[in-house]
Amino acid sequence: MLECLQSLLTSPGANNRNGGAVDQREDSDVNRLTDAETQAEFGHELYIDSTNLADALADCSPTRSLEVGCGYGRLTPWIADHGDEHYAIDLAWSLLSAARREYPDVQFQCAQAEALPFPNNAFDLAVTWGVLNHVPSDSIRIATREIDRVVASDGTLVISEATAGTPDPRWEYRSIEEWCDLFATRQLVWHTHTERDKEPFRDPEREHVVMKFR
Ligand SMILES: C[S@@+](CC[C@H](N)C(=O)[O-])C[C@H]1O[C@@H](n2cnc3c(N)ncnc32)[C@H](O)[C@@H]1O
Repeated sequence: MLECLQSLLTSPGANNRNGGAVDQREDSDVNRLTDAETQAEFGHELYIDSTNLADALADCSPTRSLEVGCGYGRLTPWIADHGDEHYAIDLAWSLLSAARREYPDVQFQCAQAEALPFPNNAFDLAVTWGVLNHVPSDSIRIATREIDRVVASDGTLVISEATAGTPDPRWEYRSIEEWCDLFATRQLVWHTHTERDKEPFRDPEREHVVMKFR
């Protein structure tokens, strides 16, 4: 494997990229290297996230669980396996249809965190992972109130978000204290900082935390 990567890096084709014209074979070699790096990063991140999620859910066995912002279902099976009935929402149709194909037993719905289509106290667990960072400050309280509303008062909330990072209009960084204020009806019972953003392609300033509220 290492030899293969070294030969790609030292091949005349790879060197020629800096010097000008690149033929088709050389370009595809370099793309293959990028794919390998991306896949390694993806696998590492999934390992870190699924391990942290398993730690957060270790003492949870919900009857009904909700995932807010499930994307294409990257973490869905780790949550669904803990309970009897799992629901998941996201606002992106295309991601939801990919998730539905993989996990037909999960109830996927297209919805926004700010307007959850469920009655009060419908769930005993809600998980939201890397989603609320994308909800702007003028609507974050609406989203957190909605999540709080649909989870029973003796239920559990698990939240993973970035607490710091390089300023970016697509990201809102909130401290643990701000999350405690946003979920003030509950207590922070556990949290852990994650190492996922030490990867070379990530924002080196970014810090993530996983929090559990009850
Ligand atoms: C970074 S992805 C994380 C997906 C998944 N939780 C995971 O860890 O793989 C963020 C997801 O949140 C969804 N999202 C963003 N804002 C949302 C909102 N206000 N309500 C529901 N979903 C939202 C996006 O469509 C996207 O699928």
